[in-house]
Amino acid sequence: MRIAVLNKKGGTGKTPIAMSLAIDLKLDIATNDTSVLGYFSTKQDHYFYGKTSFVPDSELEEFKMSENQIFDFGGWTPKGAINIIKQCDKILIPCSAENPNAILQTASTIAELKEFNSKMIVIITMHEKDEEFESKQEELKEHFDLPIMPLKKSRAFHNVISKGLSVKEIYCENQTSRHIYRNIYPQYDALLNLVKFL
Ligand SMILES: Nc1ncnc2c1ncn2[C@@H]1O[C@H](COP(=O)(O)OP(=O)(O)O)[C@@H](O)[C@H]1O
Ligand SMILES: [Mg+2]
Repeated sequence: MRIAVLNKKGGTGKTPIAMSLAIDLKLDIATNDTSVLGYFSTKQDHYFYGKTSFVPDSELEEFKMSENQIFDFGGWTPKGAINIIKQCDKILIPCSAENPNAILQTASTIAELKEFNSKMIVIITMHEKDEEFESKQEELKEHFDLPIMPLKKSRAFHNVISKGLSVKEIYCENQTSRHIYRNIYPQYDALLNLVKFL
């Protein structure tokens, strides 16, 4: 399976989502963002040690994805994005509920890319309440007809990055973690299933 996680906007949760899905779907990661994965992929005891390909922006337009790979987009280049998404089975577009411009930025990302690959899933991230998700979902529906999934703000994603575990693995760790992550896990699991079966 080939997946791209992207949005023109930064800070929407792309990197932890890509890392968590990579673990659960047994995919390698490719990225043009050296900041987060660049650090962790050098730690020998981290899941992504040796499993990450770094692609400089200048090579994005030529990059050929391998069979089982997820691409975490850092810096945005339109031509690079088009090359990557043409090769993918699914495109995930996280959209932060915290940023007031997110809807328009997400709608513009989708408008730019939809003709090259329409298998897109929009993920609303960083909200705290269900009502926040619902109101963003309503706004987004005015712009396009795509599946829209919630992923609440959660400490789980911080742990995905630092521990190199997926949200599923973090949830399953023990009794306490099953309690702490009882709200985020079902949302993540629904996303995981949609990604697998869409
Ligand atoms: N629901 C969520 N989805 C993804 N990240 C989240 C979520 N809630 C909180 N976070 C936190 O938000 C931050 C966003 O990730 P970041 O790497 O800045 O995004 P991007 O890769 O899009 O720039 C991470 O530190 C993560 O721990
Ligand atoms: Mg990132």
